[in-house]
Amino acid sequence: MRRSIDRVLHGAAILAVVCTTGASVAHAANGVDPFKQVKQMKRGVNILGYDPLWKNFKEGRFRERHFKLIKKGGFQTVRINLHGFDHMDSTGKLDESFLHTLDWAVQNALSNKLYVILDLHNYTDFAKDPVGYRPKFLAFWRQIAPRYKDASNHVLFEILNEPNGELTPQLWNEYLREALAIIRETNPTRNVIIGPPFWNTFDHLKELDLPKEDRHIIVTIHYYLPMSFTHQGALWAPEWVHFSGVRWGTEAERRKVVEDFGQAQEWAKANHRPILLGEFGAYDKGDMESRAAYTAHVVRTAESLGWAWTYWQFDPDFIVFDMERDQWVKPIWKALIP
Ligand code: BGC
Repeated sequence: MRRSIDRVLHGAAILAVVCTTGASVAHAANGVDPFKQVKQMKRGVNILGYDPLWKNFKEGRFRERHFKLIKKGGFQTVRINLHGFDHMDSTGKLDESFLHTLDWAVQNALSNKLYVILDLHNYTDFAKDPVGYRPKFLAFWRQIAPRYKDASNHVLFEILNEPNGELTPQLWNEYLREALAIIRETNPTRNVIIGPPFWNTFDHLKELDLPKEDRHIIVTIHYYLPMSFTHQGALWAPEWVHFSGVRWGTEAERRKVVEDFGQAQEWAKANHRPILLGEFGAYDKGDMESRAAYTAHVVRTAESLGWAWTYWQFDPDFIVFDMERDQWVKPIWKALIP
């Protein structure tokens, strides 16, 4: 979010990955009621967004065993953050190594009985030049949707992470329909996740214009308030990088989360859409006690409203899993899965 330093992985390496295609992980994709699905997706975590494995599979931090570990750790869902634009040629064709790595991830998530969200995460590029990136955006879904058309309905598509900047509400409402129409050609009833403009923040839900007739949509919001706490010391967030020692946990702060989520819930009720809290968390530089208290309060509030959630993130920052020590970051993990 609000990232000025681009951590996006570049290029594609030639990979020799033993994996199966999307089709072979398949069962018929029968439509599932999105409200029911959100109930089942419950607790999740964002994975793989910034892992070197997309560039060179052998250098991956995240390994097959981590899927099992996530499942055993009490999670039901993974949200895979995909920088698809970085793995396309000039015609928008996704390279084979990227697709094989993706198949590997989907296959492993499914065989560990995890719901898996395929989230297009090139939001920073898109926000700078929506018109220029539109062909790549549509090309992404033109390839990904048919590839997974027969995959289990435990696979969900998320059209785009955090639309912002030049990708105005008006443009976003236009583009999301275009992508959704492409997806619906091959996946008529798969649940698709879509969030509001302005970084998927709850207070912009009213600007989100979804096709009313499509009842296989889950609406996502992200929550990082207050930014001075959750993004203190974060290099990519110039407004907050100089903050440090900000704690969290007063009564007023706790009430604010409840009120904000209550506002989102009112919208969800009025519009008959289920909610996924797709990202939330507090950056590693804050004090652990406050971070754990914040995390616990956010998830318990979300759960009290019947939302599913996916914590930001497994690795390499805001970590709930410490790859170097090969263990859960206990206070955060316990806050998420008590
Ligand atoms: C971005 C991450 C960032 C996080 C919190 C995500 O959407 O992809 O890079 O760390 O938001 O700011």
